Amino acid sequence: MSEIGLTQDPARMRHGSNIGQPLTRREGVLKVTGAATFAADNHPQGMLYAVVATASIARGRLVSLDEAAARAHPGVVEVMTAANRPALAMDPDAKTNPFMFKLDLLQNDRVRYAGQSVAVVIAETLEAATEGAALLKPRYEAEPARTTLDEPDTFVPPSVGVGNPPEAAKGDVDAALNEAETVVDATYETPAQYHNPMEPHAVVARWDGDRLDLDMPSQGLAIAQGRIAGLFGIRPADIHIRSPYLGGGFGGKGFPAGPQILGILAARMTGRPVKLVLTRQQMYGPVGHRGPTRQRIRVGLDGDGTLAALENHTRTASSTFDDFFEPAADVAHTLYASPAIRTTYEAVRLDTGTPLFMRAPGEASGSIALESAIDEAAEAAGMDPLAFRLKNYAEREPISGKPFSSKALRACYEQGAARFGWGGRPLAPRSMRDAAGRLVGWGMGTATFPALMFQAKARATIRADGSGLLETGAHDMGQGAWTALAQIAADAVGLPIDRVEFRAGTSDLPDAGIAGGSGHTATAGMALHSAGEAVIAKLAELATADEASPLFGAGNVGTLVRDGRLERRDDESRGEDFAAILRRAGLDTISADGEAAQDPAAQDAYAMHAHGAVFAEVTVDPDLGQVRVTRLVGAFAAGRIINPRMVESQLFGGMIWGLSFALHEHAVVDKRSGRIMNADLAEYRIPVNADVPPMEAILVHEDDPHVNALGIKGVGEIGITGTGGAIANAVHHATGRRIRRFPIGLADLIG
Ligand code: MOS
Repeated sequence: MSEIGLTQDPARMRHGSNIGQPLTRREGVLKVTGAATFAADNHPQGMLYAVVATASIARGRLVSLDEAAARAHPGVVEVMTAANRPALAMDPDAKTNPFMFKLDLLQNDRVRYAGQSVAVVIAETLEAATEGAALLKPRYEAEPARTTLDEPDTFVPPSVGVGNPPEAAKGDVDAALNEAETVVDATYETPAQYHNPMEPHAVVARWDGDRLDLDMPSQGLAIAQGRIAGLFGIRPADIHIRSPYLGGGFGGKGFPAGPQILGILAARMTGRPVKLVLTRQQMYGPVGHRGPTRQRIRVGLDGDGTLAALENHTRTASSTFDDFFEPAADVAHTLYASPAIRTTYEAVRLDTGTPLFMRAPGEASGSIALESAIDEAAEAAGMDPLAFRLKNYAEREPISGKPFSSKALRACYEQGAARFGWGGRPLAPRSMRDAAGRLVGWGMGTATFPALMFQAKARATIRADGSGLLETGAHDMGQGAWTALAQIAADAVGLPIDRVEFRAGTSDLPDAGIAGGSGHTATAGMALHSAGEAVIAKLAELATADEASPLFGAGNVGTLVRDGRLERRDDESRGEDFAAILRRAGLDTISADGEAAQDPAAQDAYAMHAHGAVFAEVTVDPDLGQVRVTRLVGAFAAGRIINPRMVESQLFGGMIWGLSFALHEHAVVDKRSGRIMNADLAEYRIPVNADVPPMEAILVHEDDPHVNALGIKGVGEIGITGTGGAIANAVHHATGRRIRRFPIGLADLIG
């Protein structure tokens, strides 16, 4: 039930019956029966197939292509190269804002990373296009590739992450480290990781004059429209994008990738619809990745285990031609109460595709290092790692001094520890064994991720039959947005969920902003909430001004909305349903728009973050070094939970990625060629079911009156934080070995 009226209290509104329900995915049956249409499932009449040919060197010049051989293939229709590709309205290397990332669109003969597109073969069949691409036999003039963080030419990046300053400090870190009783000084390395969503990047493109029709997975439809419009010199409104389902996004689909634009160019060039889908191997380069980091962390401690200083100096890498720097150090701003904190960066340039957003960019790499360092500090202080964290618990955000909008981290620690059974943990490492003689270790880590909101719009309509239609161009990446947002939408208009049609996933709908930064539910949800509130207010105005309505004159006392009815606030027996109000007004529908954005005043006043605590148990074979994660318990506080089933699944997904971070995942680069040697799912290790233990994600209650009227934080990324550190710390507890280079492998634990 929700309230409309002069005295409404936003924080008390919308306690409808849909929010909070563990509904299953609305599109679940479509997905498991194969009826859900992903971008590459579209086959318009006359469609051609495009395949990119990619560079096998990391740096140098493309000297020749055997274009004639490819053209001689009977199925090949066209070969697009730097020499003949249609002109663009904009240089793909132009950068008119920091978030316009440069693209490789066959602009010249330079090769700047392995896997860069050097030509596109367009054919009647996928097989012909693939064979045609193989016939091109590119020749290169190769130059030595720069592949590691040891490159000598370092510089201070202009900014890190999404415009964060490359240096932040409070207090006097140098003095505090000098005076500290104990200093832990350790360097951690995290590897480059590459995007491996189930669905690789794809596009099906059709031109109709200067109008463009696209099936393309996207985490930000308006962003994609704007970028493509700029490149082709057409109006964003003339680009229609359908993106109903994504087989995972994780940041890799936040912006259109170069090969997707090449698919659009191929359609332009041939005058026919074109499909282009990257192979798994081709995902390792042009779609962004998690950049590597080397983090030197210094922790200064007073005699009783109180933090005196915390410093993270991160070295990271970007490509040779564009700027994105993994903001790994910044997680030190938030978590632990230290009077002196400093984060600084330096970077090198490597011959790779430009690193970009990948689930919890910054926080993931930063968290595994910081949580390891905090574990080392606890050990140096002779304290239990949980007791150490509680001793240094931040009551205000350390770097800014702001109060938290809400912070139920203490409850996360308590509930997670109780569930895990942390209380019986021996302090000394290497002191537990299982029945088979394997070493057993318990470790923990703190999870954190900012509660962000972007900008979004939505439209709410009530139809003559009293049903609702709620629309916003939101993105379901697999996380359950369609379901959670429909729940918010239904409550926003006071209808049961089966009386509401929820439309999302196409670019002609109101812009839902970006599905990123764990802010999509809060942002698109608040836009739906405000659109719903606005349409109900319009209905209430109609009814309360109409003498024939039982609500006539109720404008002063206000009305309530419940189950498709408006009722007098002071007398709930007097009311009428939506359909009656519309019928008397002679309306088929009534609509209103809504918008959402973060409230700058609240953002100024409060630090807004979700929190969690992750507890891990591992076993380690003392002879073989094999690590098994045997238990994983996380407790997370992230404001109001819209759908506990979807949230649990998001947290599990994040925790599994944390496990992957600690033990499995890394891109192995051949220093001679600059090529990634494990660029496929056979060699690039990600966890399989057998690697994943029984997991629990406890949803800790948290009311947040400041983040937004619905109290939603976000859960998409926090699960990966905390988890990697918890597992690394458990490995240390099992073995007594502190491994500071991730992922931890067999070789680290034997000999
Ligand atoms: Mo996420 S890296 O904001 O999709």
